Amino acid sequence: MPKKIFVTGGAGFIGSAFVRLVLEREPDTQIVNYDALTYAGNPKNLEGIDAARHAFVKGDICDRKAVLDALPNDADAIFNFAAESHVDRSIYSADEFLRTNIIGTQVLLDAAREKGVRRFVQVSTDEVMGTLPEESDAFFTEASPLQPNSPYAASKAAAEFVVRAARETHGVDTVVTRCGNNYGPRQFPEKLIPLMIANAVNDEPLPVYGDGKNVRDWIYVDDHCRGIWAAYERGASGEAYNLGSRNERQNIDVVTSILDALGKPHSLIKYVTDRLGHDRRYAIDATKAEQELGFRPEMSWENGLRATIDWYLNNREWVEEIRSGEYRNYYQKMYGSSLG
Ligand code: NAD
Ligand code: DAU
Repeated sequence: MPKKIFVTGGAGFIGSAFVRLVLEREPDTQIVNYDALTYAGNPKNLEGIDAARHAFVKGDICDRKAVLDALPNDADAIFNFAAESHVDRSIYSADEFLRTNIIGTQVLLDAAREKGVRRFVQVSTDEVMGTLPEESDAFFTEASPLQPNSPYAASKAAAEFVVRAARETHGVDTVVTRCGNNYGPRQFPEKLIPLMIANAVNDEPLPVYGDGKNVRDWIYVDDHCRGIWAAYERGASGEAYNLGSRNERQNIDVVTSILDALGKPHSLIKYVTDRLGHDRRYAIDATKAEQELGFRPEMSWENGLRATIDWYLNNREWVEEIRSGEYRNYYQKMYGSSLG
């Protein structure tokens, strides 16, 4: 019997990579992909996939009836990728983050219970654990306290709590994954790496926040998706798993690597006002996922960054279509006063 899974947010960056990976590697799995197509969701992210095993439904995870209508009766799992995902936008306005990321997660948990879905996989983030001291041996582990510092991170931490409550109160079988910064094809160009690639390609200034020494722990998107699948298949109910590649980088080093790969001058870098509440360092200890799930990231940073840059160079119309739309207003609001 083919297995049916319900993926939310599958037209976004990571969700669409997950859909591709599952269709490629799990021939007996059928996917219902439920996505509201917000500014970050893009049907083009799903071009070329196997339509016979994939059904797309446009809908909001906060819409109870629409979720119940779309969720198959015999779904084996819900994978909840749908979210407002950009920290800077949450600093401007938190409302939509609280609505989608918390209420939406509760609606999905209720639907899982009502329809008897076997397992609920919540795609969370290392940002729920706050920030780490610079240049220390400290890492985020599953025992780290939840100490979110941005409205986005707070909404994702709250989502983890509603997931926990659904398990403790109603016995929903849940697994949580917490990953670090993803990079790869089809990431919306509001995020560091695609924004820097697009600006460098167009010889525009590269806005680096603060002193550029904030550290992020980068993982190639397909490695993250493999970890989510492993958590679904082998994770223990009620557990959280940290997913990471042991690949800490200062932002300034990421930006200069991009400029070097594109043969562009470092003079394009422009230091701008720091992000409010800017977390200094993320670093993930993925030992638990390695030991219990057999999680092994496959992509090196050098190959992953090259593949990502090549994808953006080969898909300039994908980027420019976004950059020429509503994104222009966002960019002006975010960067206009510092970049002129
Ligand atoms: P994204 O912003 O690229 O995509 C989000 C997707 O969710 C879009 O397709 C959007 O249309 C959809 N969506 C938003 N609100 C919705 C709603 N109310 N109902 C239905 N669909 C809705 O995000 P991403 O970077 O692909 O992140 C996916 C998930 O992974 C998020 O939950 C995020 O918190 C988590 N995560 C992201 C990273 C990262 O580095 N990007 C790291 C760890 C965890
Ligand atoms: O750690 C996981 C998280 O990674 C995910 O949960 C989030 O959904 C995802 O957006 C990402 O959050 P960050 O805030 O770390 O990613 P972002 O790409 O926005 O920024 C990465 C770093 O680069 C951060 O230190 C801020 C800095 N930055 C970002 C932008 C957009 C700049 O210096 N300049 C910029 O223009």
